[in-house]
Amino acid sequence: MLRLELRRGVASKRRKSMTQRRAFHWPQPLEGQQARIWYGGDYNPDQWPEEVWDEDVRLMKKAGVNLVSVGIFSWARIEPREDVYDFDWLDRIIDKLGKTGIAVDLASATASPPMWLTQAHPEVLWKDYRGDVCQPGARQHWRPTSPIFREYALKLCRAMAEHYKDNPYVVAWHVSNEYGCHNRFDYSEDAERAFQQWCKARYGTIDAVNDAWGTAFWAQHMNDFSEIVPPRFIGDGNFMNPGKLLDFKRFSSDALKAFYIAERDTLAEITPGRPLTTNFMVSSGNTTVDYDDWGNEVDFVSNDHYFTPGEAHLDELAFSASLVDGIARKDPWFLMEHSTSAVNWRPINYRKEPGQLVRDSLAHVAMGADAVCYFQWRQSKAGAEKFHSAMVPHAGEDSQTFRDVCELGADLNTLADNGLLGTRLAKSRVAVVYDYESEWASEHTATPTQQVHHIDEPLQWFRALADNGVTADIVPVRSNWDEYEVAVLPSVYILSEETTRRVRDYVANGGKLIVTYYTGLSDEKDHIWLGGYPGSIRDVVGVRIEEFAPLGTDWPGTADHLDLSNGAVAHDFADVITSVGKNATVLASFQDDPWTGMDGRPAIVGNTYGEGRSVYVGARLGRDGIAKSLPAVFASLGVEAADASDPRLLRVERKDEATGTKFTFLFNRTHGPVETSEEGEPIVTSLAKADGGKLTIGPNGVVVVKR
Ligand code: GLA
Ligand code: GLA
Repeated sequence: MLRLELRRGVASKRRKSMTQRRAFHWPQPLEGQQARIWYGGDYNPDQWPEEVWDEDVRLMKKAGVNLVSVGIFSWARIEPREDVYDFDWLDRIIDKLGKTGIAVDLASATASPPMWLTQAHPEVLWKDYRGDVCQPGARQHWRPTSPIFREYALKLCRAMAEHYKDNPYVVAWHVSNEYGCHNRFDYSEDAERAFQQWCKARYGTIDAVNDAWGTAFWAQHMNDFSEIVPPRFIGDGNFMNPGKLLDFKRFSSDALKAFYIAERDTLAEITPGRPLTTNFMVSSGNTTVDYDDWGNEVDFVSNDHYFTPGEAHLDELAFSASLVDGIARKDPWFLMEHSTSAVNWRPINYRKEPGQLVRDSLAHVAMGADAVCYFQWRQSKAGAEKFHSAMVPHAGEDSQTFRDVCELGADLNTLADNGLLGTRLAKSRVAVVYDYESEWASEHTATPTQQVHHIDEPLQWFRALADNGVTADIVPVRSNWDEYEVAVLPSVYILSEETTRRVRDYVANGGKLIVTYYTGLSDEKDHIWLGGYPGSIRDVVGVRIEEFAPLGTDWPGTADHLDLSNGAVAHDFADVITSVGKNATVLASFQDDPWTGMDGRPAIVGNTYGEGRSVYVGARLGRDGIAKSLPAVFASLGVEAADASDPRLLRVERKDEATGTKFTFLFNRTHGPVETSEEGEPIVTSLAKADGGKLTIGPNGVVVVKR
């Protein structure tokens, strides 16, 4: 167990000039109401006869719901025929909600176009990489670069904004829904034209594109921007140009973003004072768009998170929520969707265990959410999501789910009454860096091994740090990871020139840096940094790697793991470190059969660079191997070990900088009860007991202590 000794003064002078962000703008309470943690969910009254609406409102009041998102998939109901609008039903329900004190997060309603539109204009439907058209039948079947679709969607945005501009119950705009969930990549003629324009804007000349994509390889040289085509079908078993593929992912994120911005600006022009957001899908395994980049474009960040069943559940949730907090730059953020229990879109849809409904929501709150909303309010009885859990399940009010929903509503009010709102997730001493582009590039199929992507490693570090009593911050690569005492670069495959400079400055000025295998192999064009890996920071980390040693079981007789001298075991990937710098110390080496050529080679190496220290971890050690190695890694970095928080608990703190008030959230990470003590007043408990100073926290339990 470790406690990191705080060392101030590292970094901070050298923040790069960052892209201009929109000012933070949070939805304000209805007139005459006090600020609360927003609590509610997606509400689809158009799926139900109006008799149900009064019952809905009664139950919402009972549960403490104070906000619902309305109209997300209501285009066909709001505009049943071209230019014919029906707002009456929506007016009635918004009025009913508002008069009872329930605020509305109103959708632009543009997420799913009606049948009349796609029948009249099939050219708005997106195409897959073989040219097949995505037909209507589900949702989000539109192409982001279609000028025709844009015209229709913006017309609806204008109609919505004009109609609801003075409505006192609408506190925010919910623009579209989960952009890119189903239409992330479009290979249509519109996309081709837009991709050419995007390349022109990014590179200026076709020669610069040729250079970026390395088109000297396989006769791919282009004479003109008109020769740029999207990465369409190239034959099974073939390999797409990696530079082009990476840029197509960037383009696709930007194309959706441009569409969002057009919708946002149309709404904002008519309702300038009303905050706008769109729901992201940040989770440890999801890079649909570059959410960190999109974070610049919303008035407040909102996110949808769906739990990972099984043993990673809590850790993965905390990891993803911490990344959202990083994307929000520690401003409060909005949990727009999660589930009360099972989803319906996995092969096996596990329910939540008792206590997890309340525990999960409070874990998001711990990580900086000031709003807790679900998909959805009332479980559908028809349609493709009828088996997806909701706040009011099929069983109705008399159900454990609804009782938990009511308990949670009361807990959130207690937290607000105690002053939690607006406090910030306390900054950790350790930043774990997350990079969308490194994931996109490392997804390519012509790599040392398909087993290694950027995305898997940050979560393992977050978990291993938690196993050592440290709750890390997950920090996007463009944000301020270089202002932390310790920064981890976990398989950050791309180090741009800019990031390289920041890494070098960070350590030179006294930073403590951990770098793993598969970091810094390429620059932002996905051109390899030459001279031995990791090419642009070899001297910083004090190692030189000439070759990789992937590990696997797909061929009999290959090495599938390597043992390390410190007891950790490498799987999937190891670096062949051929030399270390003169200031370097080997902290652990491989100890394996001589025939592997790895026996005795350095595996973990500490180094001094400028005023700082670094540790290079040259193999995939997994959560357990990292956890086992961390004490020596910290010792090498000069991070003092002392008594840490109990690794059986996930400990998260929110802090009021002005008053110094702290809210400590303690979550049980185990399947047994954990006894602990914590100075302060326990204000919320779930599956836990507070007895004097002693706390007993059951499995899936949580305690919030105020100090
Ligand atoms: C084949 C091709 C070469 C090269 C190699 C790589 O032999 O002829 O151009 O692609 O495979 O293994
Ligand atoms: C997404 C969507 C919702 C719903 C949920 C189900 O988050 O935004 O409309 O489909 O998934 O999990």
